[in-house]
Amino acid sequence: MRILVTGGHVIDPSQEFAGRADILIEDGQVKTFARDKKLKNNLTGPQDRVIDAAGMWVVPGLIDMHTHLREPGYENKETIRTGSMAALSGGFTTVCAMPNTNPVNDNPGVTEFILKKARAEGNARVLPIGAVTKGQMGEELAPLYMMREAGCVAFSDDGRPVANPLIMRRALEYAKGLDALIISHAEDPLLSDGGVMNEGLLSATMGLKGSPAVAEEVMIYRDIALSELTGGRVHIAHVSTLGGVRVIRQAKERGVAVTAETCPHYFSLTQEAVSGFNTHARVNPPLRTQRDVEAIKEGLRDGTIDIIATDHAPHGRAEKISRQFDDAPPGISGLEAAVPLSMALVGQGVLSEMELVRKLTQSPAKALRIEGGTLREGSPAELAVIDPQRRFVLKAEGFISLGKNTPFDGMEMKGAVVATVFGGRIMEWQRA
Ligand code: DOR
Repeated sequence: MRILVTGGHVIDPSQEFAGRADILIEDGQVKTFARDKKLKNNLTGPQDRVIDAAGMWVVPGLIDMHTHLREPGYENKETIRTGSMAALSGGFTTVCAMPNTNPVNDNPGVTEFILKKARAEGNARVLPIGAVTKGQMGEELAPLYMMREAGCVAFSDDGRPVANPLIMRRALEYAKGLDALIISHAEDPLLSDGGVMNEGLLSATMGLKGSPAVAEEVMIYRDIALSELTGGRVHIAHVSTLGGVRVIRQAKERGVAVTAETCPHYFSLTQEAVSGFNTHARVNPPLRTQRDVEAIKEGLRDGTIDIIATDHAPHGRAEKISRQFDDAPPGISGLEAAVPLSMALVGQGVLSEMELVRKLTQSPAKALRIEGGTLREGSPAELAVIDPQRRFVLKAEGFISLGKNTPFDGMEMKGAVVATVFGGRIMEWQRA
C-alpha cells in the first residue's frame, strides 16, 4: 500500500524544513520526502491513496509525553483504547502513559500489560512511564531497572511529588545509570498543603484553599540541584508559574541539562476560569495569574520551556459535575484540544510554526531519547494533517476520549487536525 501526501505545507523541525513538499509512503515508511517539488502520482494499486493537502500543514505525528490513560484500574475515566484513539484524533501518534493507574505502574508486570494492550489496539504508540516509588507512595524506590527493561521510557510519580529529597536523589542516580529521564511533578506538598486553586486574592474571596506558586518554584529548584549533583536527567512537568520559568532559565544558562514542559491550559487560561466554582478548570498545578501566563509564553518563546504536553487527565462526568469544587478531581481532558490551543501561539507571535511543531515533536523525542517526531526518509510514516484556517466550536461531547472534562467546551478554536496517518492507516476527522 502506498500513500501520496501532496501539495501540503510541510513543517518538519527534525530536518529544519518548512515549505512545500510531497511525501510518498510505502509499507508504513516514508519512502520519499520530496522538497519543493511535486511527485508524480503514479499510484495504481487498489489500496493506494492520495491525500490532497493543499492549504494544509503536514507535520510529523505529534508526541505527547504526558498522558493519563487510566488503564488499568480507572476504565470508567479512560481506557488504553479510547485514550489512544483520542490521541490520534488530536494529531498525536505517540503518547507516554503516566503511572497513576490502579495498580500503579510500579513493576514490569503492569508495564508489560500496558504495552501488550496498546499493541493489540493498534492505535497510537503508547510508551509507559514507570513510577519512581512503589505505589507512588514516596517511600521506597520502584524496581527501575526491571521496568526500564520492560519498556518504560521514563519515571515519574506524577499526580504527586516525590516529597523526600533523598529518594529523589537516589532515583536520579539510578536513572543516570539507566539513561532514563526522571519527570518531576514539582510541588512541595507542605507548601501546597492541600490547596485546590492558585493562592491569592481570588482564592481568599472564593473561600477556597490556595496553593501558592512558590510550592512549584522551590521544588523545581530542588530537583535541578539534585540533577546537578547526580548527573541524572530531570524533566519538569506542567510548568505553571513565573518563578518556575525563572529557575529553569537560570539553570539552563549555567548549562544544566534540564528540560521542561507546559500545557495548553497554562498559556490559555488564568485562575479566573475557576470563578463560579467551575470544576472543569480545577487542575493541578492550578491555573495561575496573567503574569504567570505571560511568563510561560516568554519561556516558550526563549526556549526555557522545550515542550508542550497535554497532561491529558480524563475524569468521569459525575466526579466533576456533581461534586463541590474542592472535592472534584483535578484534571483536564487535553488530547483533542491541544493543537488549536497551541496554534494560537503562532497567531500571537509567541512561536514560529517551526518552533511550535518542534515543541510537539522533535523536542519530546529528544528529551525521552526515543525515535519518532520526524518525516525523514526511512522513518515510520506517522503524520498529522492540520487545516490552519479551519474554525470550529469545541464540543466536549464530541471527544473520542471518555473524559469530557474541559474548560474549553463551547469555545471557538482555529486550527483543526483533519487527518492522521499511523500504522499504515489514514484516519480522517470531522470537526463540527
Ligand atoms: O490535574 C492533574 N490531574 N494533575 C495531576 O498531576 C494528575 C492528574 C490526574 O491524574 O488526574
